[in-house]
Amino acid sequence: MRVYLDNAATTPLDPEVLEAMLPYMKQHFGNPSSIHSFGRETKAAIEQARKKVSGYFNVSPSEIFFTSGGTEANNTAIRCSIRDLGITHVITSPIEHHAVLHTVEELQKQGRIKLSLVSIDERGHVNLEHLEKLLSAHPHSLVSLMHANNEIGNLLPLKSVAQLCAKYDAIFHCDTVQTVGHFKIDLSDIPVHFISCAAHKFHGPKGAGFLYINRNVKINPFIYGGAQERNMRGGTENVYGIIGLAKALEMAYENLEAHKKHILSLKEYMAQSLTESIPGILFNGDCMGTSLYTVLNVSFPVTDFAEMLLFNLDIAGIAVSGGSACSSGSEEPSHVLKALGTDDARPSVRFSFSKFNKKEEVDFALEKLRELYSVKVS
Ligand SMILES: Cc1ncc(COP(=O)(O)O)c(C=O)c1O
Repeated sequence: MRVYLDNAATTPLDPEVLEAMLPYMKQHFGNPSSIHSFGRETKAAIEQARKKVSGYFNVSPSEIFFTSGGTEANNTAIRCSIRDLGITHVITSPIEHHAVLHTVEELQKQGRIKLSLVSIDERGHVNLEHLEKLLSAHPHSLVSLMHANNEIGNLLPLKSVAQLCAKYDAIFHCDTVQTVGHFKIDLSDIPVHFISCAAHKFHGPKGAGFLYINRNVKINPFIYGGAQERNMRGGTENVYGIIGLAKALEMAYENLEAHKKHILSLKEYMAQSLTESIPGILFNGDCMGTSLYTVLNVSFPVTDFAEMLLFNLDIAGIAVSGGSACSSGSEEPSHVLKALGTDDARPSVRFSFSKFNKKEEVDFALEKLRELYSVKVS
């Protein structure tokens, strides 16, 4: 048996999404920029996908720009804001994804921006008072803060942060890669300038995503080339990726409550079972509070046999992600857990669930963990 509990890294493609994509890999192969009928049919399919996607966020189709995924979307928002919107100061947090952190650190190294990190509490929540202090000291900053943290599941109060940014004339980019498809996000009353998406986080294909750019933001292209994406992103479109993204989003949002209920029940069952069966279990971040329901980050007690926990779980057929160096044997501990001040002697494991996981799979993982910790359950 192999059990996949690493859905925050990526999710399996839904077979129905594949079905929707296949015609665009076979008969509908035209280049959307071609003016003949082959091109016109793929162009129409892309525009239909854009319309569908924009509807779920209550925005205009002209505000959705398809990208290769979350990293490109984040880079576009950050780099283009700095280049085109007169931004010289960026505010972000120490627990952002590397697609944001490494980008702003590079720009800082090049001397193009000054960087401030907003403080977070021991559970990973952004200190809003500190954010306001930074904003009032540096009006017209770029603020890049993630909606949900991919390691510990913390949620950002999106609307409050957006309103705070608006008060200080800041540009607000929110990395929503972990929440698109898992939470309904109505952008009609949230003054955010950019949000990012990657389809593979909600059973869509890899290499497809989008950047929402609010209509009032005027930036130049990130990738120069042809006139694709209304002159904003050159390059022949990933047609079947875009079709898959729209289908995956439709399936995610049309069944959101049922999926959420199922996933949350698995997460809660795992958390409760671990607490009851392995003494000394702790949870990292706010994953037992109001958080991203797909993620459970567990800090295990230190024992001889718990060393290389991830490796042992992998051998047992259970795929999860690590956090601390000692859980995986990797050199680098997670920058997120480090910023939280987590005890890095304890192995941390991120379990992340999807609609396809079953209770028996969680039981299998629990059994292996109890074996590793030599705990007998009566
Ligand atoms: C929060 C967050 N942002 C950005 C990314 C990058 O997305 P992609 O791998 O599609 O470029 C990820 C994916 O791991 C993520 O979890």
